[in-house]
Formats: sequence, C-alpha cells, structure tokens
Amino acid sequence: MTSWTQQPVGVVGAGTIGVSVAHALARSGTPVVIHDIAPAALARVHDAIADLERLATLRRGRRALADVSVTGDLADLAGVSLVVENVVEDPATKVEVHTALGRVLPSSTVVAVNTSAVPIETLGTALGDPRRAVGVHFMNPVALIDTVEVVGTPSSGEEQLSTVTGLLRHMGKRPVVVADRAGFVINRSLMLFVNEAIATLDDGVADARKVDQLFRGCLGHRSGPLQTADLIGLDTVRDTLLVLREHHGEKFAPAPLLERMVAEGRLGRKSGSGFYDYSRPGGSHA
Ligand SMILES: NC(=O)c1ccc[n+]([C@@H]2O[C@H](COP(=O)([O-])OP(=O)(O)OC[C@H]3O[C@@H](n4cnc5c(N)ncnc54)[C@H](O)[C@@H]3O)[C@@H](O)[C@H]2O)c1
Repeated sequence: MTSWTQQPVGVVGAGTIGVSVAHALARSGTPVVIHDIAPAALARVHDAIADLERLATLRRGRRALADVSVTGDLADLAGVSLVVENVVEDPATKVEVHTALGRVLPSSTVVAVNTSAVPIETLGTALGDPRRAVGVHFMNPVALIDTVEVVGTPSSGEEQLSTVTGLLRHMGKRPVVVADRAGFVINRSLMLFVNEAIATLDDGVADARKVDQLFRGCLGHRSGPLQTADLIGLDTVRDTLLVLREHHGEKFAPAPLLERMVAEGRLGRKSGSGFYDYSRPGGSHA
C-alpha cells in the first residue's frame, strides 16, 4: 500500500487547478513536486498556495502544509508515487505530455488525468499503458470541495483505479466513478448552461450580477454560472467547449462573447478581469 505522506506526488501543470491540487495534497500531508514548462507559472506557485491556504484556514482551520517543490524538468518526477496531470485543455498538448510521461516514469507509476472533457483512454494510449491512466476531475478550490468525479476507462486497471481512489480518500475526498465519454457527467451539463448564460448576457436579458443572483437565489447554487466561469478561467471554459463540440456536436459551440473575451485576454480571476473585476485588493467584486 502506498504511504501518501512519505513519497511525493507529482503534479504536472501549475495553472489554476494544478496549484489548487498541489495545495490540497500538501494540506493532506502529502509532499508535492510540481512541474510546468512556463517559468512564470512556477514562480507563482508558492504565493498562490499561500492565498489558497488563507481561504482554507478561514473555512476549515489551519493545517501544517507538506513541502511543495517546483521543477522545470519533467524528468524530476521519475521518483514520485503518482502523477496528477493538469496541463491546458488542449488534446494535442495533453497527448504530448502523456507521451513524455511514458518516457520518464517507471512503468508502474499511475497517472491521474485532471481534465474537463478530454477522453482519458486516448491519453492512456499516449502514456504507453492505458491501464495506468485514470481520470480525476477536481473542482476548484480543491481543498474545499469534497466530491471528485473519477473516470475509469474500459482499460483502466483495477489496481490503478484503487490507487487513485486511495489517494483521494487520504485527501478526505469522496470519489464518484463514471464512464469515459467526453465531458463525463459534470461538464457535459455545466458547460452548456455556462455557455448559454454568457449568450443570455450578450443578448442583454440581464447583467452579470443579475444572472448570477438568480442562479444563487432561485436555484440555491453556491456560485452563479458567470462567477463559475471566472473561477475556472474563460480560456479553459472555451477550450472545454471545443472538446465537447468535437465529440457531441454544435450545441457546444462557444458563445461569441466568450470568444471575444478570451481574445481580449479577459480570462476571469486568473487575469484580474472577466465578467467581474478582480484587480482591486479584496478580490471578487461579484
Ligand atoms: N480551472 C479549473 O477549475 C479546472 C477544474 C478541473 C479540471 N481542469 C482541467 O485541468 C487542466 C488545467 O486547467 P487550468 O484551468 O489549470 O489551466 P491553466 O491554463 O490555468 O494552466 C495550465 C498550465 O499548463 C501549463 N502547460 C502547458 N503546456 C504544458 C506542458 N507541455 N508541460 C507542462 N505544463 C504545461 C501552462 O504553462 C499552464 O501553467 C485542463 O485540462 C482543465 O480542463 C480545470
């Protein structure tokens, strides 16, 4: 049985969700080695983890964090107990990264694929052993959301699946295992209504505050669809819709306003502005 507090877990991709995964692992006492090709992303890791920990402390109390180290060299992940892959939602980039992981990791290392929509089996094939690839769709902020959508493919090994669910339980999560169809359960529905909420805003039916207020107040959602899009990152929302369109058809075509905002670099929280302004101290002005 793997001891999750002895050997580090590898995290590939130090963007919005990769850092949140690293933080949640560190909070559960698991040391982390995090890799990204962008030095700027690696330079932000420790500040971003400190921000996430401030929020987690407010909601769940302070915890001692295990060590998080950063590396620009994927080969430094060769000795980790498991890898969580979180690079951009671009199938070609993910295939490249899994091919590279297949070269640097020992043949027994399990790879948990954190993706919004890309089918897992293709990535397992790129890895060179589809038994070792299991989907994990974490929600942001990872430390505060206790349920995780887990994707088992017909080729995922039973042992590998139970290694992943074992790590999730160690992190205090409840895994819910579903099948490997693009977008799985959550994003196949969530992306449709986020996209349609953006189109509704563009049609002038209501401003962003009212759209979100209605979803929170009438439906009891914790966050409205436009707030959710800002939290995910509008580039990631757009890229997820493109993957869904490829697999499930034109109903997933990104709303024109979403495309315009991505082209303008208004990506939500990560860029300081999206449907709301995050540039002033104090964060969200939703
Ligand atoms: N944002 C969310 O809330 C969320 C939630 C669940 C899953 N996801 C999925 O997780 C993945 C990452 O999403 P994100 O929102 O963090 O994206 P992001 O754009 O914020 O970060 C992606 C990171 O990947 C890095 N990267 C790109 N190519 C790379 C490579 N070849 N090797 C190493 N690193 C590379 C980038 O430099 C960047 O730092 C996507 O597949 C997304 O669908 C995102």
